[in-house]
Amino acid sequence: MTKIPDIIKKAHKKAIQVRDNSYSPYSKFKVGAAIVTSQKNIYTGTNVENASYGGTVCAERVAIFEAVKNSEKKILEVVVVTDAKKATPPCGFCRQVIAEFMSSKTRIWLANTKEILECYKAEDLLPKAFTPKDLK
Ligand code: THU
Repeated sequence: MTKIPDIIKKAHKKAIQVRDNSYSPYSKFKVGAAIVTSQKNIYTGTNVENASYGGTVCAERVAIFEAVKNSEKKILEVVVVTDAKKATPPCGFCRQVIAEFMSSKTRIWLANTKEILECYKAEDLLPKAFTPKDLK
């Protein structure tokens, strides 16, 4: 895997911390996410589940919405943390939401609470994504 930049190590730590706040009484699957924006700020999120199940929102989207709430709409990096041994990839909904705010350089880092396990280019995880350009 590529060398892990310091900002990713920092985002990983923040994702581990925020994961403790996961509201996941149904799946018991705690997820933490941290994104790094073009301004080099880090925004975090956890999964928030719902008794309806369908109302559940993943950690990645909560982190992205937090960035957008702060007027930051360019995502450089996404770090996803679970406590699984195997890397947990983002779901299809999250890939689509990441696509809205990504560039060709955006990377997705998959990690557990101990280490970063895998790294992908976001565009490789959702090839031929439907993006704002398609509405022009
Ligand atoms: N989940 C995330 O938060 N991010 C992912 O990348 C995969 C899945 C959450 C949604 C749900 O609360 C739980 O994990 C089980 O699917």
